[in-house]
Amino acid sequence: MLKLLSFDFEGQKAYYIACNISILEDKILKTIGVLTSGGDAPGMNAAVRAVVRTACVNEMTVYGINRGFSGLINGDLEQMNLRSVSDIIHRGGTTLHTARSKEFRTQEGVQTAIDVCHDIGIEGIVVIGGDGSFRGARDLSLGGIPCVGVPATIDNDISCCDSTIGYDTCLNTIMEMVDRVRDTTESHDRCSVVEVMGRSAGYLALNAGIAVGATSILIPEVSYDVEINIIERIRRTQKTGKRHFIIIVAEGIGGVEELAKNIEAKTQVETRSVVLGHVQRGGSPTVRDRVLASQMGYKAVQLLMDGTGNRVVAMQKGEIVDFDIYEALNMKKSIDSNLYKMAHEISI
Ligand code: F6P
Repeated sequence: MLKLLSFDFEGQKAYYIACNISILEDKILKTIGVLTSGGDAPGMNAAVRAVVRTACVNEMTVYGINRGFSGLINGDLEQMNLRSVSDIIHRGGTTLHTARSKEFRTQEGVQTAIDVCHDIGIEGIVVIGGDGSFRGARDLSLGGIPCVGVPATIDNDISCCDSTIGYDTCLNTIMEMVDRVRDTTESHDRCSVVEVMGRSAGYLALNAGIAVGATSILIPEVSYDVEINIIERIRRTQKTGKRHFIIIVAEGIGGVEELAKNIEAKTQVETRSVVLGHVQRGGSPTVRDRVLASQMGYKAVQLLMDGTGNRVVAMQKGEIVDFDIYEALNMKKSIDSNLYKMAHEISI
Protein backbone atom coordinates (compact mmCIF):
# COMPACT_ATOMS: atom_id res chain seq x y z
CA MET A 1 0.00 0.00 0.00
CA LEU A 2 1.05 3.62 -0.54
CA LYS A 3 0.39 6.63 1.62
CA LEU A 4 -0.24 10.06 0.10
CA LEU A 5 2.33 12.75 0.90
CA SER A 6 0.95 15.58 -1.21
CA PHE A 7 -1.36 16.09 -4.14
CA ASP A 8 -1.15 18.65 -6.92
CA PHE A 9 -4.64 18.97 -8.45
CA GLU A 10 -3.65 21.23 -11.35
CA GLY A 11 -0.89 18.93 -12.53
CA GLN A 12 -2.89 15.84 -11.50
CA LYS A 13 0.19 14.48 -9.72
CA ALA A 14 0.26 12.65 -6.43
CA TYR A 15 3.34 11.93 -4.32
CA TYR A 16 3.33 8.80 -2.26
CA ILE A 17 5.54 6.93 0.18
CA ALA A 18 5.40 3.20 0.63
CA CYS A 19 3.92 1.96 3.90
CA ASN A 20 1.53 -0.67 5.10
CA ILE A 21 -1.86 0.98 5.40
CA SER A 22 -5.32 0.18 4.13
CA ILE A 23 -7.52 3.22 3.42
CA LEU A 24 -10.33 2.39 5.83
CA GLU A 25 -9.06 -0.42 8.01
CA ASP A 26 -11.66 -2.40 9.97
CA LYS A 27 -14.59 -0.47 8.50
CA ILE A 28 -17.59 -2.39 7.15
CA LEU A 29 -19.33 -0.38 4.41
CA LYS A 30 -23.12 -0.47 4.32
CA THR A 31 -23.94 2.10 1.62
CA ILE A 32 -22.21 2.30 -1.74
CA GLY A 33 -22.68 3.91 -5.15
CA VAL A 34 -21.92 2.71 -8.65
CA LEU A 35 -21.21 4.82 -11.73
CA THR A 36 -19.99 4.42 -15.31
CA SER A 37 -17.60 7.01 -16.68
CA GLY A 38 -15.67 7.87 -19.86
CA GLY A 39 -16.40 6.24 -23.21
CA ASP A 40 -19.08 3.55 -22.91
CA ALA A 41 -18.14 -0.08 -23.47
CA PRO A 42 -20.30 -3.17 -24.07
CA GLY A 43 -20.51 -5.05 -20.77
CA MET A 44 -20.78 -1.98 -18.55
CA ASN A 45 -24.40 -2.94 -17.83
CA ALA A 46 -23.39 -6.46 -16.85
CA ALA A 47 -20.86 -4.94 -14.41
CA VAL A 48 -23.47 -2.58 -12.92
CA ARG A 49 -25.83 -5.54 -12.53
CA ALA A 50 -23.17 -7.56 -10.69
CA VAL A 51 -22.38 -4.63 -8.38
CA VAL A 52 -26.03 -3.97 -7.51
CA ARG A 53 -26.90 -7.65 -7.02
CA THR A 54 -23.79 -8.34 -4.89
CA ALA A 55 -24.52 -5.30 -2.74
CA CYS A 56 -28.21 -6.24 -2.33
CA VAL A 57 -27.61 -9.85 -1.35
CA ASN A 58 -25.13 -8.61 1.24
CA GLU A 59 -27.75 -6.26 2.67
CA MET A 60 -25.99 -3.11 1.56
CA THR A 61 -27.77 -0.02 0.26
CA VAL A 62 -26.68 0.77 -3.31
CA TYR A 63 -27.16 3.96 -5.34
CA GLY A 64 -26.91 4.12 -9.12
CA ILE A 65 -25.19 7.39 -10.02
CA ASN A 66 -26.16 8.74 -13.44
CA ARG A 67 -23.69 10.26 -15.94
CA GLY A 68 -20.49 9.44 -14.08
CA PHE A 69 -18.76 11.99 -11.87
CA SER A 70 -20.95 14.80 -13.28
CA GLY A 71 -24.00 13.02 -11.92
CA LEU A 72 -22.29 12.57 -8.55
CA ILE A 73 -21.51 16.29 -8.35
CA ASN A 74 -25.13 17.11 -9.27
CA GLY A 75 -26.62 14.51 -6.91
CA ASP A 76 -28.18 12.76 -9.93
CA LEU A 77 -28.62 9.31 -8.37
CA GLU A 78 -31.22 6.82 -7.23
CA GLN A 79 -31.39 3.89 -4.89
CA MET A 80 -31.33 0.56 -6.70
CA ASN A 81 -32.64 -2.88 -5.84
CA LEU A 82 -32.40 -6.39 -7.28
CA ARG A 83 -34.97 -5.60 -9.97
CA SER A 84 -33.44 -2.25 -11.02
CA VAL A 85 -30.85 -4.19 -13.01
CA SER A 86 -33.13 -6.80 -14.58
CA ASP A 87 -32.87 -7.22 -18.36
CA ILE A 88 -29.70 -5.21 -18.82
CA ILE A 89 -27.00 -7.91 -18.95
CA HIS A 90 -27.37 -8.25 -22.72
CA ARG A 91 -27.56 -4.55 -23.54
CA GLY A 92 -24.71 -2.47 -24.96
CA GLY A 93 -24.02 1.08 -23.78
CA THR A 94 -24.73 1.96 -20.16
CA THR A 95 -28.17 2.40 -18.64
CA LEU A 96 -26.54 4.64 -16.00
CA HIS A 97 -25.32 6.87 -18.87
CA THR A 98 -21.79 8.19 -18.91
CA ALA A 99 -19.86 11.44 -19.20
CA ARG A 100 -16.40 12.94 -19.13
CA SER A 101 -16.62 15.57 -16.37
CA LYS A 102 -14.41 18.67 -16.64
CA GLU A 103 -15.65 19.93 -13.27
CA PHE A 104 -14.49 16.78 -11.52
CA ARG A 105 -10.94 17.51 -12.65
CA THR A 106 -10.84 20.47 -10.26
CA GLN A 107 -10.33 20.36 -6.49
CA GLU A 108 -13.70 22.12 -6.01
CA GLY A 109 -15.47 19.51 -8.14
CA VAL A 110 -13.96 16.64 -6.14
CA GLN A 111 -14.91 18.36 -2.88
CA THR A 112 -18.52 18.83 -4.06
CA ALA A 113 -18.67 15.13 -4.94
CA ILE A 114 -17.34 14.21 -1.48
CA ASP A 115 -19.94 16.50 0.16
CA VAL A 116 -22.73 14.82 -1.85
CA CYS A 117 -21.49 11.41 -0.66
CA HIS A 118 -21.52 12.59 2.96
CA ASP A 119 -25.02 14.13 2.60
CA ILE A 120 -26.49 10.94 1.12
CA GLY A 121 -24.43 8.56 3.24
CA ILE A 122 -22.49 6.97 0.38
CA GLU A 123 -19.40 5.41 1.97
CA GLY A 124 -17.74 3.91 -1.10
CA ILE A 125 -18.11 3.83 -4.90
CA VAL A 126 -17.51 1.34 -7.68
CA VAL A 127 -16.19 3.30 -10.68
CA ILE A 128 -16.61 1.48 -14.00
CA GLY A 129 -14.52 3.02 -16.79
CA GLY A 130 -11.02 3.60 -18.15
CA ASP A 131 -7.85 5.17 -16.78
CA GLY A 132 -9.29 8.73 -16.74
CA SER A 133 -12.09 7.41 -14.52
CA PHE A 134 -9.56 5.72 -12.23
CA ARG A 135 -7.85 9.07 -11.66
CA GLY A 136 -11.24 10.29 -10.41
CA ALA A 137 -11.57 7.17 -8.25
CA ARG A 138 -8.14 7.84 -6.78
CA ASP A 139 -9.04 11.48 -5.99
CA LEU A 140 -12.22 10.42 -4.18
CA SER A 141 -10.37 7.69 -2.29
CA LEU A 142 -7.81 10.26 -1.15
CA GLY A 143 -10.72 12.43 -0.03
CA GLY A 144 -12.00 9.65 2.25
CA ILE A 145 -14.52 7.95 -0.06
CA PRO A 146 -12.95 4.58 -0.89
CA CYS A 147 -13.42 3.65 -4.53
CA VAL A 148 -12.76 0.50 -6.51
CA GLY A 149 -12.18 0.79 -10.26
CA VAL A 150 -13.54 -1.74 -12.74
CA PRO A 151 -11.73 -1.52 -16.12
CA ALA A 152 -14.23 -1.04 -18.94
CA THR A 153 -12.98 0.36 -22.23
CA ILE A 154 -12.92 -0.98 -25.77
CA ASP A 155 -9.30 0.24 -26.08
CA ASN A 156 -7.87 -2.42 -23.68
CA ASP A 157 -5.29 0.16 -22.60
CA ILE A 158 -5.36 -0.56 -18.85
CA SER A 159 -1.88 -1.84 -18.13
CA CYS A 160 -2.64 -4.10 -15.17
CA CYS A 161 -5.40 -5.92 -17.03
CA ASP A 162 -5.06 -8.55 -19.78
CA SER A 163 -8.53 -7.79 -21.15
CA THR A 164 -10.88 -4.93 -20.29
CA ILE A 165 -14.67 -5.07 -20.37
CA GLY A 166 -15.86 -4.26 -23.90
CA TYR A 167 -12.63 -5.16 -25.69
CA ASP A 168 -13.74 -8.61 -26.82
CA THR A 169 -17.12 -7.35 -28.07
CA CYS A 170 -15.45 -4.51 -29.94
CA LEU A 171 -12.97 -6.89 -31.60
CA ASN A 172 -15.84 -9.07 -32.76
CA THR A 173 -17.71 -6.04 -34.09
CA ILE A 174 -14.65 -4.86 -36.02
CA MET A 175 -14.18 -8.36 -37.41
CA GLU A 176 -17.80 -8.52 -38.62
CA MET A 177 -17.60 -5.04 -40.17
CA VAL A 178 -14.32 -5.71 -41.93
CA ASP A 179 -15.58 -9.08 -43.19
CA ARG A 180 -18.31 -7.08 -44.94
CA VAL A 181 -15.81 -4.58 -46.29
CA ARG A 182 -13.79 -7.54 -47.55
CA ASP A 183 -16.74 -8.86 -49.60
CA THR A 184 -16.95 -5.68 -51.63
CA THR A 185 -13.16 -5.18 -51.68
CA GLU A 186 -12.72 -8.64 -53.19
CA SER A 187 -15.54 -8.18 -55.72
CA HIS A 188 -13.91 -5.02 -57.07
CA ASP A 189 -10.26 -6.14 -56.82
CA ARG A 190 -9.64 -3.17 -54.55
CA CYS A 191 -7.63 -2.24 -51.51
CA SER A 192 -9.52 -1.05 -48.39
CA VAL A 193 -7.82 0.95 -45.68
CA VAL A 194 -9.81 0.62 -42.45
CA GLU A 195 -9.30 2.83 -39.39
CA VAL A 196 -10.27 1.28 -36.05
CA MET A 197 -10.59 2.92 -32.64
CA GLY A 198 -8.17 2.55 -29.73
CA ARG A 199 -7.14 6.12 -28.91
CA SER A 200 -3.32 5.90 -28.65
CA ALA A 201 -3.22 2.11 -28.25
CA GLY A 202 -2.97 -0.50 -31.00
CA TYR A 203 -4.47 -3.60 -29.30
CA LEU A 204 -7.73 -3.39 -31.25
CA ALA A 205 -5.93 -2.85 -34.57
CA LEU A 206 -3.40 -5.64 -34.04
CA ASN A 207 -5.85 -8.31 -32.93
CA ALA A 208 -8.63 -7.34 -35.35
CA GLY A 209 -6.01 -7.14 -38.11
CA ILE A 210 -4.98 -10.74 -37.42
CA ALA A 211 -8.61 -11.88 -37.27
CA VAL A 212 -9.44 -10.38 -40.68
CA GLY A 213 -6.18 -11.43 -42.34
CA ALA A 214 -5.04 -7.87 -43.06
CA THR A 215 -2.12 -7.51 -45.48
CA SER A 216 -0.70 -4.74 -43.26
CA ILE A 217 -1.43 -3.50 -39.74
CA LEU A 218 -0.25 -0.08 -38.61
CA ILE A 219 -0.20 0.59 -34.85
CA PRO A 220 1.27 3.48 -32.85
CA GLU A 221 3.53 1.18 -30.81
CA VAL A 222 5.56 0.03 -33.84
CA SER A 223 7.31 2.41 -36.24
CA TYR A 224 6.51 1.88 -39.90
CA ASP A 225 7.40 3.00 -43.40
CA VAL A 226 4.51 3.12 -45.92
CA GLU A 227 6.77 1.96 -48.74
CA ILE A 228 8.10 -1.08 -46.85
CA ASN A 229 5.10 -1.96 -44.68
CA ILE A 230 2.35 -1.46 -47.27
CA ILE A 231 3.41 -0.85 -50.87
CA GLU A 232 6.09 -3.56 -51.03
CA ARG A 233 3.79 -6.05 -49.27
CA ILE A 234 0.99 -5.37 -51.74
CA ARG A 235 3.36 -5.82 -54.69
CA ARG A 236 4.79 -9.03 -53.24
CA THR A 237 1.31 -10.40 -52.60
CA GLN A 238 0.14 -9.42 -56.11
CA LYS A 239 2.89 -11.61 -57.56
CA THR A 240 1.35 -14.62 -55.78
CA GLY A 241 -2.02 -13.95 -57.47
CA LYS A 242 -3.85 -11.92 -54.84
CA ARG A 243 -5.88 -8.95 -56.13
CA HIS A 244 -7.56 -7.47 -53.06
CA PHE A 245 -6.07 -6.09 -49.86
CA ILE A 246 -7.18 -5.04 -46.40
CA ILE A 247 -5.01 -2.60 -44.46
CA ILE A 248 -5.90 -1.99 -40.79
CA VAL A 249 -4.81 1.34 -39.30
CA ALA A 250 -5.08 2.24 -35.61
CA GLU A 251 -6.81 5.51 -34.71
CA GLY A 252 -3.56 6.66 -33.09
CA ILE A 253 -2.01 6.75 -36.57
CA GLY A 254 -5.05 7.96 -38.52
CA GLY A 255 -4.82 9.68 -41.92
CA VAL A 256 -6.53 6.82 -43.79
CA GLU A 257 -7.91 8.98 -46.60
CA GLU A 258 -4.46 10.26 -47.54
CA LEU A 259 -2.98 6.81 -47.13
CA ALA A 260 -5.59 5.35 -49.50
CA LYS A 261 -4.72 7.96 -52.17
CA ASN A 262 -1.04 7.21 -51.72
CA ILE A 263 -1.56 3.45 -52.08
CA GLU A 264 -3.65 3.90 -55.22
CA ALA A 265 -1.08 6.23 -56.79
CA LYS A 266 1.79 3.86 -56.10
CA THR A 267 0.17 0.49 -56.84
CA GLN A 268 -2.61 1.44 -59.30
CA VAL A 269 -4.94 -0.68 -57.17
CA GLU A 270 -8.21 1.18 -56.70
CA THR A 271 -8.29 2.03 -52.99
CA ARG A 272 -11.00 3.17 -50.58
CA SER A 273 -10.76 4.29 -46.96
CA VAL A 274 -13.26 3.52 -44.19
CA VAL A 275 -13.34 4.95 -40.67
CA LEU A 276 -15.44 2.51 -38.65
CA GLY A 277 -16.12 5.06 -35.90
CA HIS A 278 -18.60 4.69 -33.04
CA VAL A 279 -20.31 1.61 -34.46
CA GLN A 280 -17.39 -0.19 -32.75
CA ARG A 281 -18.55 0.89 -29.28
CA GLY A 282 -22.12 -0.38 -29.51
CA GLY A 283 -23.84 -3.73 -29.51
CA SER A 284 -24.69 -6.59 -27.22
CA PRO A 285 -21.68 -7.77 -25.18
CA THR A 286 -20.10 -11.15 -25.98
CA VAL A 287 -20.19 -14.05 -23.52
CA ARG A 288 -16.61 -13.24 -22.56
CA ASP A 289 -17.41 -9.61 -21.71
CA ARG A 290 -20.56 -10.52 -19.78
CA VAL A 291 -18.72 -13.07 -17.64
CA LEU A 292 -15.71 -10.78 -17.13
CA ALA A 293 -17.97 -7.86 -16.16
CA SER A 294 -19.89 -10.04 -13.71
CA GLN A 295 -16.68 -11.30 -12.09
CA MET A 296 -15.20 -7.82 -11.82
CA GLY A 297 -18.37 -6.19 -10.46
CA TYR A 298 -18.66 -8.96 -7.86
CA LYS A 299 -15.03 -8.58 -6.79
CA ALA A 300 -15.29 -4.78 -6.56
CA VAL A 301 -18.12 -4.98 -4.01
CA GLN A 302 -16.30 -7.66 -2.03
CA LEU A 303 -13.34 -5.30 -1.71
CA LEU A 304 -15.47 -2.31 -0.73
CA MET A 305 -17.53 -4.36 1.72
CA ASP A 306 -14.64 -4.67 4.15
CA GLY A 307 -13.49 -1.09 3.64
CA THR A 308 -10.76 -1.70 1.06
CA GLY A 309 -10.66 1.21 -1.37
CA ASN A 310 -8.25 2.86 -3.78
CA ARG A 311 -8.04 -0.41 -5.75
CA VAL A 312 -8.50 -1.46 -9.36
CA VAL A 313 -9.86 -4.90 -10.17
CA ALA A 314 -8.10 -6.69 -13.04
CA MET A 315 -7.94 -9.93 -14.98
CA GLN A 316 -4.47 -11.48 -15.23
CA LYS A 317 -3.88 -14.91 -16.75
CA GLY A 318 -7.51 -15.87 -16.15
CA GLU A 319 -7.52 -14.79 -12.49
CA ILE A 320 -9.39 -11.83 -11.00
CA VAL A 321 -6.88 -9.77 -9.00
CA ASP A 322 -6.67 -6.21 -7.68
CA PHE A 323 -4.07 -3.44 -7.53
CA ASP A 324 -3.52 -0.11 -5.82
CA ILE A 325 -4.91 2.57 -8.18
CA TYR A 326 -1.70 4.60 -8.13
CA GLU A 327 0.38 1.54 -9.02
CA ALA A 328 -2.12 0.50 -11.70
CA LEU A 329 -2.03 3.94 -13.33
CA ASN A 330 1.75 3.84 -13.48
CA MET A 331 2.11 0.36 -14.97
CA LYS A 332 3.18 -0.02 -18.58
CA LYS A 333 1.66 -2.51 -20.99
CA SER A 334 3.45 -3.31 -24.19
CA ILE A 335 2.24 -4.79 -27.44
CA ASP A 336 2.92 -8.53 -27.85
CA SER A 337 5.83 -8.36 -30.30
CA ASN A 338 5.50 -12.08 -31.16
CA LEU A 339 1.90 -11.50 -32.17
CA TYR A 340 2.92 -8.55 -34.33
CA LYS A 341 5.73 -10.57 -35.93
CA MET A 342 3.37 -13.49 -36.61
CA ALA A 343 0.78 -11.20 -38.22
CA HIS A 344 3.49 -9.73 -40.43
CA GLU A 345 4.70 -13.17 -41.55
CA ILE A 346 1.45 -14.97 -42.25
CA SER A 347 -0.67 -12.21 -43.80
CA ILE A 348 0.92 -12.34 -47.19
O1 F6P B 1 -11.83 5.27 -25.18
C1 F6P B 1 -12.77 4.73 -26.03
C2 F6P B 1 -12.83 5.52 -27.30
O2 F6P B 1 -13.84 4.95 -28.12
C3 F6P B 1 -11.53 5.63 -28.08
O3 F6P B 1 -11.22 4.48 -28.83
C4 F6P B 1 -11.78 6.84 -28.91
O4 F6P B 1 -10.57 7.50 -29.21
C5 F6P B 1 -12.62 7.71 -28.01
O5 F6P B 1 -13.20 6.86 -27.04
C6 F6P B 1 -13.72 8.46 -28.71
O6 F6P B 1 -14.37 9.26 -27.78
P1 F6P B 1 -15.70 10.09 -28.08
O7 F6P B 1 -16.84 9.12 -28.01
O8 F6P B 1 -15.74 11.09 -27.01
O9 F6P B 1 -15.58 10.65 -29.47
